[in-house]
Amino acid sequence: MNVIKAKDYEDLSKKAAIFIAARMVQNPRCVLGFATGSTPEGTYSELAALNAAGVVDFSEVTTFNLDEYYGLPGDHPQSYRYFMNEKLFSLVNMRSENINLPDGMAADPAGDCADYERRIREAGGVGLQLLGIGRNGHIGFNEPGGEFSRETCLVELTEDTKAANARFFGADETVPERAITMGIGTIMRAGEILLIANGSNKLEILDKMINGPVTPTVPASVLQLHNNVTVIYCD
Ligand code: F6R
Repeated sequence: MNVIKAKDYEDLSKKAAIFIAARMVQNPRCVLGFATGSTPEGTYSELAALNAAGVVDFSEVTTFNLDEYYGLPGDHPQSYRYFMNEKLFSLVNMRSENINLPDGMAADPAGDCADYERRIREAGGVGLQLLGIGRNGHIGFNEPGGEFSRETCLVELTEDTKAANARFFGADETVPERAITMGIGTIMRAGEILLIANGSNKLEILDKMINGPVTPTVPASVLQLHNNVTVIYCD
């Protein structure tokens, strides 16, 4: 793993955006995997600035997001589709037909998950996947457990994750119990992975991810088995 320490959050965001921008320059038709959460917000804002400055062009780019809450429609302010529209897609020249997220309202989640995998395959696979990491080591919503999931699937969120994400929800709202997430196998099939982590509360899990045993009890540790991973973090 290529591990880079950034000076601070602003530096992390700029470095991550330049990393992604470089891939977009190399291949204007690239397929990017995106994450939500608080960590990539700065990266998306930097990418939007690079797009406004004419440095990067999203018009031929295809994106697949990692995950979506199950039970939230795309226009719900806490849905990940809403987040992506607000933080990136509405700010850049993405074509709506090139934007892919799991459907949080899918009547047949298993069918929708299989369809998501098919769409990724038909797009030629994810070239660069951006990831955050949960304090419990989750990537996407692949929570610690007994095995690594292979494909996009419907999962139950742990109490730890619901507690961590409650900060995005209003006092009268509850965090959904379930989510649709790319599987560990889906993530590992990306050609390249960029994982970003912000803050001292992520240092312990980063150490386990990089130096600990590869185990589904620390889902991110599987990245040790991927041959093209860059980690950018700050404390
Ligand atoms: C979000 C996602 C999650 C987050 C993780 C870290 O799409 O897949 O795995 O990356 O929970 O979230 P933040 O960045 O809010 O600390």
